[in-house]
Amino acid sequence: MTAAVTEWAWVEGRVVPSAEARIPLWDRGFFFAEAAYEAYVGRGGHIFAFEPHQSRLTRTLEGIRLPEVSATMRLVAEACTALVRTFGDGTFLLYVQVTGGIAPRNHVLREDPRPAVYATIRPWDRSLLFRDQESGISVATFQDIRWPKATWKTTQLLGNVLGKKHARDVGADEVMFLDTDGNVLEGGATNVFIVEKGRLVTASTQANILPGISRLGVRTFLGQEVFEETIPLLRFLAADEAFVSGTTREVTAIVKVDGLALGDGRPGPITRRLSKAFTAVFDRDCPPK
Ligand SMILES: Cc1ncc(COP(=O)(O)O)c(C=O)c1O
Repeated sequence: MTAAVTEWAWVEGRVVPSAEARIPLWDRGFFFAEAAYEAYVGRGGHIFAFEPHQSRLTRTLEGIRLPEVSATMRLVAEACTALVRTFGDGTFLLYVQVTGGIAPRNHVLREDPRPAVYATIRPWDRSLLFRDQESGISVATFQDIRWPKATWKTTQLLGNVLGKKHARDVGADEVMFLDTDGNVLEGGATNVFIVEKGRLVTASTQANILPGISRLGVRTFLGQEVFEETIPLLRFLAADEAFVSGTTREVTAIVKVDGLALGDGRPGPITRRLSKAFTAVFDRDCPPK
C-alpha cells in the first residue's frame, strides 16, 4: 500500500507531491541566497493573517530589488490558494519562497530574469506548541552575526542557523540574538518581549530585527500597548516575565536564559493570558471544518 501524500509543493504553476518537486540548479536563490520567503499557518482552508504576510513579502521583494513585484505577488496568491485547496481541512504550515529566478551564474546580469515562485504545504501539529506554552521555553544568547538587513525576510539565514545550532548544543529551545552592545534583539525565528510591572516591551524595528506579524499582532490582534525600547541583557534577566512571539510559536513564555531561571522559572500570568488570547484569535480566524 502506498502512503497518502500529505506534503505538496507548487513549482512553476503546478501542484505536485513535494517528494517529486525539483528546483533548477541555476536558480539564483541557490547560488546567491537572492530570495525572499514567508511562512504561514492556517486551518480549515483559511490562512492566518494572510494580508500582513503579503505586505511584508511585498516589502522584502522591493527591498532586495526583484522585478515585477505585483505580478509575482499575484503568482504567490495563486500558489497559496492552490496548495490550501489541495491540502484540505487540517492544520497546515505553508511556506513560500520567491527567488531571483533562473539564469547563468553571474552576480549581476544585464537584465534581471523573471522571479521564480516556489511553495510547500505540510501538516502542522499545534500540540507541541501547547506543550511548550505550558512549560515555557529556554533561550541561549548569541552574538548577532547576521547581515544588517534582518528587517527583510530573506533566506540569508546562515547566522540564524548557527545561532540555533548553538542553542541546540547548550540544550536550549531557541537562540536569542544580542547586538554588539549586549542588547536583546530577537530569536532565531521569533521576536522577544519582556513584561515589567505589567508593561510589554520589545526591541525597536530600528534595531536589526524582523518585524514579526505575531509581534505586531500582540498590538493589533490582542489590543495590547507595546513599548519599543532598548533592552540590555541585564534588564531582560530582571524582567517579571518574558515571551517569544512567532507564527509557529504564537505567544510562548521564556522561562530560562543561558541556564538561569527567569522570575520563578514558570510562565507568568500575563504571558499565559496572552498565549490563550492569541490561540483564541487563531481559532476565530481559522475555525476547524
Ligand atoms: C528572525 C525572525 N524573527 C521573528 C520572526 C517572527 O515573525 P512572525 O511573527 O511573522 O512569524 C521570525 C519568523 O520566522 C524570524 O525568522
